[in-house]
Amino acid sequence: MRPLLEATDLRKLYGRQHVLDGVSFVVSEGAHIGLVGRNGAGKTTMLKILAGDEEADSGTVKLMPWTRLGVLRQHEILPDDVATLAYLASTSNRPEWDCSKLAARFGIKGKELSLPPASLSGGYQMRVKIVAMLLQNPTLLLLDEPMNYLDLPTLLLLESFLRDYPGSFLMTSHDREAMQNICTETWEIANGALAEFPGDLETYLDWKDEQAEYARRTNKRLRREMSDAQAFADRFRAKASLASRAQSKLRHIAKLRTQLKAVGSNLPTAAFRIPCPAVTSGPAVRCVELSIGYEGYAPVATGINVEIQRGAKVAIVGENGRGKSTFLKTLGGILDPIAGETKWWHRANIGYFSQLSEDTLSPDATVLQALTQAAGDASGERILAAAGAFLFRNDDLEKTCRVLSGGERARVRLARLVLREHSVLILDEPTNHLDAETVEVLARALKEYPGTVILVSHARTFMNAIIDTIFEVRDGMVRHYIGTYEEYVNDLTNQAEETTHVVDVESHATQKDDRKEQAVTNRENKRVQVRIEDRMKKLDREKSDILAFFFENPTDYSPEKNRRLAELEDELAIAEREWLSHV
Ligand SMILES: Nc1ncnc2c1ncn2[C@@H]1O[C@H](COP(=O)(O)OP(=O)(O)OP(=O)(O)O)[C@@H](O)[C@H]1O
Ligand SMILES: [Mg+2]
Repeated sequence: MRPLLEATDLRKLYGRQHVLDGVSFVVSEGAHIGLVGRNGAGKTTMLKILAGDEEADSGTVKLMPWTRLGVLRQHEILPDDVATLAYLASTSNRPEWDCSKLAARFGIKGKELSLPPASLSGGYQMRVKIVAMLLQNPTLLLLDEPMNYLDLPTLLLLESFLRDYPGSFLMTSHDREAMQNICTETWEIANGALAEFPGDLETYLDWKDEQAEYARRTNKRLRREMSDAQAFADRFRAKASLASRAQSKLRHIAKLRTQLKAVGSNLPTAAFRIPCPAVTSGPAVRCVELSIGYEGYAPVATGINVEIQRGAKVAIVGENGRGKSTFLKTLGGILDPIAGETKWWHRANIGYFSQLSEDTLSPDATVLQALTQAAGDASGERILAAAGAFLFRNDDLEKTCRVLSGGERARVRLARLVLREHSVLILDEPTNHLDAETVEVLARALKEYPGTVILVSHARTFMNAIIDTIFEVRDGMVRHYIGTYEEYVNDLTNQAEETTHVVDVESHATQKDDRKEQAVTNRENKRVQVRIEDRMKKLDREKSDILAFFFENPTDYSPEKNRRLAELEDELAIAEREWLSHV
């Protein structure tokens, strides 16, 4: 296999922190590398250096003449004046049939190919970007958490595509399941150094466990030998005839001590418990004939009759833009119901973790300030304990939120949440950016937490570990899904396959119906629809622009953008409903 990229002795220093401390490696053709490491280990920094977006303090990155890098740049705005197929053909200089073949692998066909890319939904736009990147025929893809902003169906598609991808890629993701399914090699960055392992993630983790076990056994044997030798030396040191042997025993002990092995990872893991006031049994919340949505517009969902028990661990599922966040916001009291009501248990005390709660983190605030602001009347000691539990110590406490890695920022937000006692937690995508170890600890803490948890998340292992109740938001309704989270994901995969088939069959049927329908379509309705579509296009473009910014700048920080994104999602949800009401 020919080499594609060669990095030599890369070094990067932030303050006193050696993020990369002399890292060298070669990426060859056909390599499927999963780059893992704890939050803040330096993965994003390394990928940015490889892509030429950031400079190393020293060291070199050499691309071979036959190497073409493929980097997913989400900030790129897709055009609204050319059909998707034509767009793909023009950016790749490849015939349309060739483009449509690859597009079909990402479920882009028929209608989507003939519409301009800017008018497609967020998930489909992401697919178009992936296809456009792949049509350039890159030999090496650099993907930093590509799964983070995808909805579940798109995530499953990308996963299966990358698994069979013949080219090379170097990708990061904290989704262990995705990494296991996609990558055949595992590289880990820790303490500024890079370890390369020629196997998948599970094999790597097993190997690490075995190494730790071997180290523990070796240490036990060495310690026994040392203590025997020590006993001999103590006993015979005073005896002239054996003194020299006692001396040599002492030297032997010193030698054995050097052979003691470091056991396992010396990296600390977040460790926390989520505080909760006493919770009795009974319903936590009852929604009665609830309609959710936005004042003055058609509702997002209606007729919601749902009861959630105290202590239940509830998932709200459904495709992006279908009303999950609207439902969460209504439950959390951030949004008023359009009709009906939500009745909370009188002692419910809600802690809300919005996907966009970063806008409450001021970029210039230090970690310590961010925690203090949220702490209420918690003592300084408790604040420091919470900071420590989420791994912020000494110098870290003085870092400004602006420079934190994605995962470090998520940890600050979690620490803020557990500084107060809540009997209900409403969490929107809490695991985005968190490393697997922290996600595991969070899952355990949520499971042990006696209060009610209402969650939106695409992290499968995490959800599997916690969820006991599922509600699906779909077609303007909220239904109780009977089954486990795993069953729900399986259903979704099957449905995606069926839908692709149904769409093909339907397109023939609708052609006929369309002709009849056109005759009776109310002109006014059409006009309104076109107007709404225009508005949706504009909103969609603005949204992809912001998501792109976050993707491209995972450590960058922009409260205005976060706020605008939340507004855009609301406006889009409204526009979609409005459009539907004019069909
Ligand atoms: N300008 C800066 N000043 C100080 N520290 C910085 C700066 N930029 C990044 N860092 C630190 O460098 C470390 C590495 O950041 P990086 O974003 O590469 O981590 P990562 O491995 O991608 O983490 P994550 O898994 O959370 O995405 C972090 O501890 C971060 O706080
Ligand atoms: Mg990162």
